[in-house]
Amino acid sequence: MSGVLRRCAFRLAGTRSLATTATDITPRLKTFKIYRWNPDKPAEKPRLQEYQVNLNDCGPMVLDALLKIKNEQDATLTFRRSCREGICGSCAMNIGGRNTLACLCKIEPDISKQTKIYPLPHMYIVKDLVPDLTNFYKQYKSIQPYLQRSKVPEDGKENLQSIADRKKLDGLYECILCACCSTSCPSYWWNQEEYLGPAVLMQAYRWLIDSRDEASKIRKEMLQNSMSLYRCHTIMNCTRTCPKGLNPGKAIAEIKKALATD
Ligand code: SF4
Ligand code: SF4
Ligand code: FES
Repeated sequence: MSGVLRRCAFRLAGTRSLATTATDITPRLKTFKIYRWNPDKPAEKPRLQEYQVNLNDCGPMVLDALLKIKNEQDATLTFRRSCREGICGSCAMNIGGRNTLACLCKIEPDISKQTKIYPLPHMYIVKDLVPDLTNFYKQYKSIQPYLQRSKVPEDGKENLQSIADRKKLDGLYECILCACCSTSCPSYWWNQEEYLGPAVLMQAYRWLIDSRDEASKIRKEMLQNSMSLYRCHTIMNCTRTCPKGLNPGKAIAEIKKALATD
């Protein structure tokens, strides 16, 4: 009997402390201004819509705020997300003037400052924060991003490489193809039909230096023209913005070096 009484008392204490939390803390209302455009209403111009989120009741990342807005205030707000941990690349957008991943971007805690959120710049927009990445993926496909060999290994198993050769791929294979870098590159903004852009070029380099691949001659030939590679003018916006801390600008410089010394 006494055990039952103790359990009840514990529950009551818990209930009291929850009530205190909910009423006593002053809400910290943060304003988000978010780009809205609806293809079903083409006559309406794109606009910024304002939302307020109580940071006391929200996760720490911008993606948490977007999900909270969508769940509690406006179900029509449209954006992509999947993994919420910087792996899928789908939540790439322009937050506070910088291309980044919403799930890795902390909410600026100063509530006197508004946070503006736009889709990735200079892209066609599907709706709100969703860019059309058709051309980006087409360009990725064009560099043949897969291992090419004429022979299979003798034991029919893996294509082995040395530890040193495997190490050369570090800093390249981690790319999640979020497109933050390409859409921050002025050369890509103006020539994206022909210039491959930093994300795709970094993957071209990743396959070019893979010791197991035998297609380097044709890979280099594909880049030997005035547009695919040489539109890069080493402005380095790409490297500055990469949310995974990679260096596509350096990879492009390495391709140029490899082509020059061929
Ligand atoms: S380094 Fe090249 S790819 Fe990177 S932003 Fe500059 S021009 Fe674009
Ligand atoms: S290099 Fe960085 S910014 Fe560019 S696509 Fe890969 S992960 Fe994204
Ligand atoms: S949700 Fe996957 S990278 Fe942000």
